[in-house]
Amino acid sequence: MYTGRGNAVTALDGVSLQAHAGEFVAVQGPSGCGKTTLLLAAGGLLAPTSGRVVVNGRDPYSLSPEDRARFRAETIGFVFQQFHLVPYLSVEENIRVPSMALPAGNARARARSLMDRFQLSQRARHVPAELSTGERQRVALARALMNNPRVLLADEPTGNLDAENAGIVLAHLAEFAQEGGTALLVTHDARAAQYACRTIHLRSGRIVPQPEAGQAALIRDAAGEADARPSAR
Ligand SMILES: Nc1ncnc2c1ncn2[C@@H]1O[C@H](COP(=O)(O)OP(=O)(O)OP(=O)(O)O)[C@@H](O)[C@H]1O
Ligand SMILES: [Mg+2]
Repeated sequence: MYTGRGNAVTALDGVSLQAHAGEFVAVQGPSGCGKTTLLLAAGGLLAPTSGRVVVNGRDPYSLSPEDRARFRAETIGFVFQQFHLVPYLSVEENIRVPSMALPAGNARARARSLMDRFQLSQRARHVPAELSTGERQRVALARALMNNPRVLLADEPTGNLDAENAGIVLAHLAEFAQEGGTALLVTHDARAAQYACRTIHLRSGRIVPQPEAGQAALIRDAAGEADARPSAR
C-alpha cells in the first residue's frame, strides 16, 4: 500500500507468486495495475505493508539496509522502466556500476563482453544523453546482468526497441532462465509469451486466473505432440 500525499493506494492485493530457478515468467496487465510495484517488492526495493518476499531463500526486508544492498548486488539484476542510468558515466562505466558493490576480478572483461552482446561496443565512451532510447535500454539490461544475478527483474525492457532488438532481448532473458536463473519480465509485448514459460495477468493489483486460456494451450500442445510423433517416425 502506498500512503503518500494523496489517497492511500493498494497497489497489490493478495498477490501470491512463485518463480523457480530456470523459470521465465512474464507479467502483463494494464497501466497502473501494479506491475512495477510487484517488481520493486520482489527486488528488495519496496517493503510490502503486509506479506512476505523470499528471494533465493532469504527475505530481503529482514536484512539491515547495508546487508540488503549487498544481497541485492549479489542476487538481483533490475532493469528499471525509466532505466535510471547515471548521466555522467559512460556506457561502459554504467554497466560496471553493480560490480563496485562487490569485489570483482574481471569486471572490465565482463562489461566488454556484455557490450559486445548488446551491440554497444561502438558506444562504450558515450554518456546516456548521447544514446538512442533503445541503446539506453540495452545498457540498463547489460548493467542488470553485470554481476551474474540469480534473479533478473525487468520492467518493460523491450518497450522502446524495434522488433529485431526486442527479439534479441527476449531471447537473452530466455537464455538467462535456461542457464538456471529466474527471470520476471513486465511487458506489453505480445511476443514475450512465446519466450516465457508462463504469463501472469494482473488487474487492479490482483492476479487474474487464466484457466481457460492456459489449459486450451496445454491441450493443444499435447494434441500437437501426439499428432507429430507418429509422422516423425
Ligand atoms: N509512490 C507512489 N505513491 C502512491 N501511489 C503510487 C506510487 N507508485 C505507484 N502508485 C500507484 O500504484 C498503482 C500501481 O502502480 P504501478 O507503477 O505498479 O503500475 P504499473 O502496472 O507498473 O503501470 P504502468 O504500466 O503504467 O507502468 C497505480 O495506481 C499508481 O498510481
Ligand atoms: Mg510500471
